[in-house]
Amino acid sequence: MYYDHNPVFPKGFFWGASSAAWQVEGGVAEGGRTPAIIDLNSKKKKPFADNTVAADHYHHYKEDVALMAECGFTSYRFSLSWSRIIPGPDRKVSEEGLAFYNGLINELVAHNITPIVTLYHYDMPVWVDEKYGGWHNRAIIDEFEYYCKVCFENFGDRVKYWLSINEQNMQIVYGDWLGVSKGCTNWFVEQWQINHIMNLCHAKAVIACHEMVEGGKIGPVPGYVPIYPETCRPEDQIGAMNAEEFTEKIWCDTYAYGEYSNFVKKYWKDNGIDPKILPGDEELMKAAKIDFFAVNCYRSNTGKFAPHDAEAGAYILNASGVKGNLKFPTVPGVYALTVNPYVEYTDWDWEIDPSSIRYATRYMWDHYHLPMVITENGFGAHEHKDAEGKIHDEYRIKFLRETIYQLGLAIEDGVEIFGYNPWSFTDLLSTGNGMAKRYGLVYIDTTDEEQVAANYDLSKLSMGRIRKDSFYWYSKLIKSNGQDWGTDMSHYQK
Ligand code: BG6
Repeated sequence: MYYDHNPVFPKGFFWGASSAAWQVEGGVAEGGRTPAIIDLNSKKKKPFADNTVAADHYHHYKEDVALMAECGFTSYRFSLSWSRIIPGPDRKVSEEGLAFYNGLINELVAHNITPIVTLYHYDMPVWVDEKYGGWHNRAIIDEFEYYCKVCFENFGDRVKYWLSINEQNMQIVYGDWLGVSKGCTNWFVEQWQINHIMNLCHAKAVIACHEMVEGGKIGPVPGYVPIYPETCRPEDQIGAMNAEEFTEKIWCDTYAYGEYSNFVKKYWKDNGIDPKILPGDEELMKAAKIDFFAVNCYRSNTGKFAPHDAEAGAYILNASGVKGNLKFPTVPGVYALTVNPYVEYTDWDWEIDPSSIRYATRYMWDHYHLPMVITENGFGAHEHKDAEGKIHDEYRIKFLRETIYQLGLAIEDGVEIFGYNPWSFTDLLSTGNGMAKRYGLVYIDTTDEEQVAANYDLSKLSMGRIRKDSFYWYSKLIKSNGQDWGTDMSHYQK
């Protein structure tokens, strides 16, 4: 496609950024909050970093919202901590927990920033995990529904955009990473049973939102990584399609249509997998009509054919001219992921591919015809202050500029997208790399090492907020509703 103009973003487009409670808040033992499973991960599982302090948003939220307003935000996507709101098995709602989120929501509303709120972002309360054994037990469905209803009841007058479960697909595909597979003895089978329970939790949240929140809209948050075929060899095309199915499409199909696709049902049958679907479950899923998709998209992957006798699991590829650390999963007989020689990679081997967001949103639009909001995208990097205490993150500006332009081109292509919320506003904890992998438009003046040395004592930590160069660049772009790119973009108009 060739366009002779820069993309035009719709009036009222949501420009903001994104976070998750456990990665940004800190204050883990304050306001009555009890531990979440992810806190334990962050203490024991390396390279996870301790989230006791994180970005200390818990104490800095007013300053953070003021900075968002200064930047020109019209939206902010964040998550609620279940164990801050319901700290124990007696289901007693914490007034202090509600007060914290009411304070944050009121502050956003006062600055004309629309809250977009995730109900669940990896932080199951430890008490839920202990009582039910995590996601394995159907009893969690009722507990999750109760929690969602508390949220809708208390925040639904001001929060109209809700997100159910963050990256359910990635939690299943990489079950070990975020602890979802804990306690499983046969993950091959149990992942589908857990996934089914999560689908029912999602469905309950969707239905309750529509019943309880006047004008409320709700959607799921798939982590979307488009899969390009390695070559035009037909086998590689099918391998890429298989990868697409098994990492994201199965989930998106289920959310959009409220039923499992033939593809996954046949796969279960062929492999003797019983996902334990009970009478009434499919009706519940069907009744949960989502309003939009929230899309997390950082990069693309490349897929290819994998012979049925290929070695399973991750392997290390040492392609010449490419970083030597790339790890790609192989699923024998289904697909293998591989290196893409046409893109560069971040320090953490993530493909730097601004076009992936255009591909992802076009693909999603073609399949589901539902509006989308981008709830994550971004560039993780090692960063340090220079001698003047500034952070010159020109690589992030380049990445954001090209990505947002591609998103604009998707809109020009006819895709309905109503907002862009990159990860993240301030630096916050990366899932596995703590503060070492920074994503923010605003630098947080702390490091994992300083936090350890200070024994997580806030009185010994600066936690200052420093606007990065990307903050100023993004501010100009969003205040002009996506017109002031800071440079000539005509070479991108295709
Ligand atoms: C998304 C998650 O998948 O990726 C976030 O929703 C996460 O929680 C983000 O932080 C970036 O990944 P990472 O591993 O670099 O923190």
